[in-house]
Amino acid sequence: MRKIYYITTPLYYVNAEPHIGTAYTTVAADVLARYKRLAGYEVFFLTGTDEHGLKIARTAKEAGLSPKEFVDKLVPKFKQAWQQLGISYDYFIRTTDPSHEESVKALFRKVIDKGDIYKGKYSGWYCPPCERYISLKDSPDKSCPVCKRPGEFFEEDNYFFKLSKYQAPLLKHFKDNPAFVEPSFRYNEILNRLESGIEDISVSRLVRSHFTTKAQRTQSPPGSPGEGRLARSSPDTLCRDEGGSAFDWGIPLPTDPSQVIWVWFDALINYISAIGYPAKPDVFNKFWPADVHLIAKDILWFHSVIWPAMLMAAGIPLPKKVFAHGWWTMNRDKISKSKGNAVYPAEVIKQVGVDGLRYFLLREMPFGLDGDFSEAALINRYNNDLGNDLGNLVLRTLTMIEKYYDGKIPSPAGAYEPVEELRQTAEKLAVTVPGHLDKLAFSLALEDIWSLIHQANKTIDSVKPWALAKAKSEHLPAVLYGLAETLRIVAVHLAPFMPTVSKSILAQLGLADDIRLPSSAGWGKLPVGTQTAKSQPLFQRIELPV
Ligand code: MSP
Repeated sequence: MRKIYYITTPLYYVNAEPHIGTAYTTVAADVLARYKRLAGYEVFFLTGTDEHGLKIARTAKEAGLSPKEFVDKLVPKFKQAWQQLGISYDYFIRTTDPSHEESVKALFRKVIDKGDIYKGKYSGWYCPPCERYISLKDSPDKSCPVCKRPGEFFEEDNYFFKLSKYQAPLLKHFKDNPAFVEPSFRYNEILNRLESGIEDISVSRLVRSHFTTKAQRTQSPPGSPGEGRLARSSPDTLCRDEGGSAFDWGIPLPTDPSQVIWVWFDALINYISAIGYPAKPDVFNKFWPADVHLIAKDILWFHSVIWPAMLMAAGIPLPKKVFAHGWWTMNRDKISKSKGNAVYPAEVIKQVGVDGLRYFLLREMPFGLDGDFSEAALINRYNNDLGNDLGNLVLRTLTMIEKYYDGKIPSPAGAYEPVEELRQTAEKLAVTVPGHLDKLAFSLALEDIWSLIHQANKTIDSVKPWALAKAKSEHLPAVLYGLAETLRIVAVHLAPFMPTVSKSILAQLGLADDIRLPSSAGWGKLPVGTQTAKSQPLFQRIELPV
């Protein structure tokens, strides 16, 4: 039986083009998907777009388009960005796909049948740009805990989900599965919050066929209950005024078309609708439960509490893991389109190439923590790690093989200590790199790969192959074989991170790109006599702007 690996990214809101933050999760998921495919798994890598809700409806209105016209314009930009970044997703889901809508209705019905949906009055504060409720316990000033914008008050009859009923089962699941949420400090945060009690949540919105634009919103005095509400300025806007959430851009409730399903309840279901819930039980049972939902810390509560409770209510097993990484910041402020500090992948790719960007994102900050993005850090990593360390090792090794052996891989006759040391480090990588990747410790995997690259460069400096050549030393072929084999193994481990660079190193060594893990990571697989290709510089030095 083939091993299965199911990995997901969040569904990104299509209010703006993808930036470096959204690219981060997607690249990380891509590295894991590629790594697992090389290790023989049948991978299902899911990404896509979150297209309903007030945030999108308002942004579309401001652009003068219907929500559907607006999202249809944005989705190709996501697909194009992922193509540019070499993202090897297996399926791109849109929450406006009819098959997703059917899944959502089916799951909603199951939860109703379970008795976990009831009608009530919602009255409270909400952040439309983040599509999240604001609890006055956490934010007495009614601002959004994530984006800090003032919340908007709304009050209306809604359907509620009995989230509180799942407090005890969730606590049990957390206690029984200490790796359910990672990193562990995030697990503890959620566990503490769960222990302090959870409330039922509104999971629907009253349908209104109109809503106002930003310009039409009143300037209520700060702190007044109506702050941020919609305008009460004309008969036409009167009906839109009973709470800032009024809209109709969502999936109708199967049992009451006067309400649409709350955008989060809708979007989370993508993780099962994409694999055929409930229409294709064979496909669904093959891939579910997901191995890992990759997300950032700001949406961990939705994924580790609300989503699991929804699944429990529907009698579906929970995902194996939710991993919440940190934020890319700019001068310590979260990078986002709305803050005006977004960096776009295409701009960075122009400077350092696709693989340069992929490398930087996963090397610069440990997965799980926050990190500041700067052009200086990007260019330093590119020039030093890629240009000086990796690029030079490739160039020096292939130039010497060309010069001393007409470009053919020589036979490594006889053991030679510095080469044995390279071999030991390379063999260790075959264990440590997969170990780090299985823990999503991308930066540690890259550090280990770079320890081999550094050692190989040092070996060249200390052994001085040109001196061995001059002295007609018997060690020269062993050294050059060892360096070429090191490069091959570096290319193997880099393949999930930097697919183009890996392929290019293998091509320069005269090898095909047919990596299989773990066997390709073993030492001594490079066939003697292989004709190498003339070395091309992999990275062009970039001058730091002054
Ligand atoms: N639509 C919801 C998710 C629904 S999942 C069923 C959403 N979308 S979002 O467009 O706001 O994207 C959130 C995700 O984008 C984060 O979880 C993270 O993966 C990524 N990031 C957005 N900005 C980021 C940073 N500045 N840094 C790191 N990741 C960031 O929330």
